Amino acid sequence: MEEVRRRVLLDAEQIGHRMHALAARLAPRLAQDQVTVVPILGGAVVFAVDLIRLLPPVLMLEFLRIQTYGDGRVPLKEPLVDWRPHPENIRGHQVLLLDDILDTGRTMAEAQRFLREEMGAAEVLSVVMVDKPARRQLPIEADDYMVRVEEDLFLVGCGLDYAGRYRNLPQLCALEAEVQV
Ligand code: IMP
Ligand code: MG
Repeated sequence: MEEVRRRVLLDAEQIGHRMHALAARLAPRLAQDQVTVVPILGGAVVFAVDLIRLLPPVLMLEFLRIQTYGDGRVPLKEPLVDWRPHPENIRGHQVLLLDDILDTGRTMAEAQRFLREEMGAAEVLSVVMVDKPARRQLPIEADDYMVRVEEDLFLVGCGLDYAGRYRNLPQLCALEAEVQV
């Protein structure tokens, strides 16, 4: 597969600085115990691996997977949870919900509803690597983010994929215009 043309928005060093700053803002907001980090699979895994190592070492780790897109980028009717955390690690806990990007908001809205209403989380703190408000469909905001990108760009790297690839890029990049989807 030929590599797509892309432009670096943040390099690894800039991301490192922003991750430390984000962790410093989050640490005082975390409860003393009963905190469970829940990255949304698979995009948030790279973000989570970097972030949790900068946070106090009392966190539990669980995973949630939500399908919002079918094979392409055609939205499914309803977002579908197809991997859920262990209930005993969510009920009554403060959940630090992590996602790669907050775009339309459909994934985050379903994740929050599921963790609160179906799994009994005491509190859900939602943090994303990228806040991209340009295409928001729902009135939802993250509690914090590593970076906000105002332009409607298609981003890759640091967990974000284009056709399943580029998740392992250490930089945050935008696809060049001719390959935007
Ligand atoms: P939502 O539209 O806020 O529900 O975001 C759903 C998912 O769309 C994200 O978790 C990503 O997997 C994907 N997505 C949205 N924007 C981008 C992007 O710019 N690059 C790569 N994936 C994206
Ligand atoms: Mg994703």
